[in-house]
Amino acid sequence: TQEVQDASKRALAKKAVGLVKSGMVVGLGTGSTSSLAIEELGRLINQGKLKDIVAVGANYQSRVLARQFGVKTVDLNDVNNIDIAFDGADEVDFNKNLLKGGGAAHTMQKVIDSMSKECIILADQSKVVLQLGSTFPVPVEVLPPAISPVLRRLVTLGGVPEIRSALRKDGPVITDLGNMVVDVSFPNGIQNPAELEKSINMIPGVVENGIVSGVVSSVMVAIQDRDDVIVM
Ligand code: A5P
Repeated sequence: TQEVQDASKRALAKKAVGLVKSGMVVGLGTGSTSSLAIEELGRLINQGKLKDIVAVGANYQSRVLARQFGVKTVDLNDVNNIDIAFDGADEVDFNKNLLKGGGAAHTMQKVIDSMSKECIILADQSKVVLQLGSTFPVPVEVLPPAISPVLRRLVTLGGVPEIRSALRKDGPVITDLGNMVVDVSFPNGIQNPAELEKSINMIPGVVENGIVSGVVSSVMVAIQDRDDVIVM
């Protein structure tokens, strides 16, 4: 049930935030699981168990939540490095490659995750897949004036692209950075995530895609009904 899932996500968030030490610079991701981690971080700060924490939010949602829970945020350009980053994912494979961007926030998340000394991914069991792309298309953030040529190039890579449209707005989703998102499914599967990640980003007009390879330090997976966490 939803409640069981929420409880296991919260347990996961607690365990992950336990890795933070006073004085650290913390990167904050987006999504429901990262949001719980922000809440837990705020709790430890307010209880005085963590001191001198500054955080960097990947997007609007994480910065708003940080403010709400009493976590001080600074601009990414004001820090030289990030000690630890927490983030969610839409899919995780056994090589710690990710698929992100379900919330259209992957571009800045990738910046934060890749500059962090330690990048911890919080996932529930349902996110673990044998091959990326099995349950989700690959989100690609695209500069709006370049949308048509980018769509054509994505097709030449074997993809089936679809511009993401907004639920409560007519027309496309526009990201926090002012761009469009194209969801690209790959009917023949994604054999080499690192290669596809690079090929998509080589298309002029593409800002960033949701495949994340070679960045993650560890993935913590919440096991439902067992109040348990597996670390990959
Ligand atoms: C944002 O674009 C995504 O990559 C999120 O990190 C992802 O959707 C995880 O969200 P949940 O923790 O809500 O599943």
